[in-house]
Amino acid sequence: MIMAKSGRLMAAMLMLTVAGGANAQISGRVNIIPKPALVVERGGILRLSSNVLVYSDKSFTDAASLFANQANLSVSTDKKGKAKAQVLFIEATAREIADSAGYKLVVTPQLAVVYARTKVGALYGASTLTQLSLTQKDMSAIPCVEITDHPRFGYRGMHFDVSRHFFPVSFIKRFIDLMALYKMNTFHWHLTDGAGWRLEIKKYPELTSKAAWRPLGAWTKWWPSKRRYSEEGNANAYGGYYTQNDAREVVDYAAKRGITVIPEIEMPGHSEEVLATYPNLSCTGKPYESSEFCIGNDSTFTFLQDVLTEVMAIFPSKYIHVGGDEANKEHWKKCPKCQNRIKENGLKDELELQSYLIRRMETFLKSKGRRLLGWDEILEGGLAPEATVMSWRGEQGGIDAANMGHDVIMTPGGYCYFDSYQADPATQPLAIGGFLPIKKVYAYEPIPSMIDSAKAKHVLGAQACLWTEYIPTTEHLEHMAFPRMLALSEVVWTQRANRSWDDFKQRLQAHYLLLQRLNVSYCRPSYKLDIVPKFDYEAKKVSVTLVSEQLNPTIYYTTDGSLPTTASNLYKGTFELSGSAKICAAIIENGEMVAKPDMLEVDFHKAIGRPVVYNSPYSANKYPAQKEATLVNGYRGSLSYGDGQWQGFEGGDMDVTIDLGNATELNRLGASFMQQIGPGVYMPDSVVVSLSDDGKNFREVKTVLNDISATETSLTFKTFQVDLKGETARYVRVFAKNGKRGFLFADEVVIY
Ligand code: ACM
Repeated sequence: MIMAKSGRLMAAMLMLTVAGGANAQISGRVNIIPKPALVVERGGILRLSSNVLVYSDKSFTDAASLFANQANLSVSTDKKGKAKAQVLFIEATAREIADSAGYKLVVTPQLAVVYARTKVGALYGASTLTQLSLTQKDMSAIPCVEITDHPRFGYRGMHFDVSRHFFPVSFIKRFIDLMALYKMNTFHWHLTDGAGWRLEIKKYPELTSKAAWRPLGAWTKWWPSKRRYSEEGNANAYGGYYTQNDAREVVDYAAKRGITVIPEIEMPGHSEEVLATYPNLSCTGKPYESSEFCIGNDSTFTFLQDVLTEVMAIFPSKYIHVGGDEANKEHWKKCPKCQNRIKENGLKDELELQSYLIRRMETFLKSKGRRLLGWDEILEGGLAPEATVMSWRGEQGGIDAANMGHDVIMTPGGYCYFDSYQADPATQPLAIGGFLPIKKVYAYEPIPSMIDSAKAKHVLGAQACLWTEYIPTTEHLEHMAFPRMLALSEVVWTQRANRSWDDFKQRLQAHYLLLQRLNVSYCRPSYKLDIVPKFDYEAKKVSVTLVSEQLNPTIYYTTDGSLPTTASNLYKGTFELSGSAKICAAIIENGEMVAKPDMLEVDFHKAIGRPVVYNSPYSANKYPAQKEATLVNGYRGSLSYGDGQWQGFEGGDMDVTIDLGNATELNRLGASFMQQIGPGVYMPDSVVVSLSDDGKNFREVKTVLNDISATETSLTFKTFQVDLKGETARYVRVFAKNGKRGFLFADEVVIY
């Protein structure tokens, strides 16, 4: 037992040991995100009046102040005041709180007590108590509850790119406050990139007098231009930087909130801004010619070590992130100095040359007691001996590195890149592409099943990335980060078995109030309906579920494609249809549709469930979707090519033959594709349909040309419609020409 000095404290501790359940029916008032390990709700409230005394043991004053400041209260460490305090932060022993980052929170009608072993544990208790208040309609009425809690992962990160757009210290602090409120503990500060260097380095002042500024602020103007830099003080200069004092202030501010700041200094790629300013560090020695440091040049190492020396003096983090992503190796191939480095060190190629640089950086960082962290490209050419890998190009880098015994942080684009769309792009500000609704973030599991169970401990946690090419303002950044960060916080904090989307969605409702109170420009829940069919091909039946980000919306639908009204079918849950239908559904409030209706044609077309032969392969390791069933399973893809219904063809054509089983009279065929040029997804140049009776001799019957421009930047869908009236055949071959040699994505070939 904790040595409780006051009777009221003792009473609170006793409640900790009382088995829960008696008041389990009281619910809906405790809505903590991320979900704590154990919550036992009690009846009643603790009323926080304006003269409440907050007592803290000396080691927990940071935590106590965080709670007290937001509630306009002050903290006392005077033991004499302890007996009168209503909110207490108390040190506990290892026997009482098993996990060093864990805490207990007990709220009774008389007092609230946070028990913890460590400063971070106390901070997490303070966050929970703060949320308990800010999620109530009456913030001064704290519901009585006992919470026992500890994190699942030790690394719970948010990355923030301040190169593409600069964000002031005041906003970085606000962002850190919000991270702390949701128990995120690592801030990955992407400080340098081709769009601007953002950290004062005393030895290289031009990094901030020149490389931190560009003449064009708007990404959509600067990126397609010659990408010049400007100079601080020029009338049109856009950018900014943090002084070393600014950065120290951020580090200190974050530390008080239990957050480690990891700085990222990019190398060898993404370094255009350095090389325009210090061109002697590039292969050609000329500015504006390359984005990669010359690895053959000794002054490159002098520069990088000088910079890292100043960086380490500011940032006490164990990890220093050195980037390592997306380096173009072409300059190194033509550079005599780089080739000489390869020869002298017995390296095989330019991949090993990059690895040579990363290994030297690791040796340097290690000599200063730090560890190297890099994007998963640092695996190529051989991983530095003790490097930690951030897996962003999917999960494979993380799987490989963990299985090799390296620590990894998972940040796969499909689940963790918060620069992607979170709702229908037509309703959203311009984004870089992709589609990552909050539900998909929530579904993420940081330990991939492909990691050997004995190696799972190498997954330190996960992180969301906020790349800011298309995020120029603080409001926009909040829109992209929230509420998705809340979903991620639960992914990395809460035990997997304790996670439930429906339960999270319910608790999220209370956090809309909290986010509004803190003036966070969060993305409001979408009114879009996902119409999710489930086919029974044998019985020719389909059951349909309507899914929404709204909580319990009133939905009406029709099955003949007509617009729904309050006289249409009221959606009461999954319903069943026989045969084909055109479902049209909408949320209707006060007699009016709140957004445009959503449509889905469920097709029992002639190709459904038929065998498909691939004359050229789909992208089996990246976008197999439902493999050979994908194109004829009746399911249409959603807005995202990563949704498991869009099949990818990487670089090659789509060329498939569908066997209809016997000679079949044909009417029409539709083949649907998507275009999203950001990630290199294009429409086919043309779709050619050929028919055959024997599967060997085909006659080409129709060609449909693409009419979507390859420069169309919005997410675009097109069904190539082919008229086949009067034709009869058993085998139908569909050839879609991948003229751009990028990705083709197809979701269905429909034959009537
Ligand atoms: C990255 O997104 N280039 C790490």
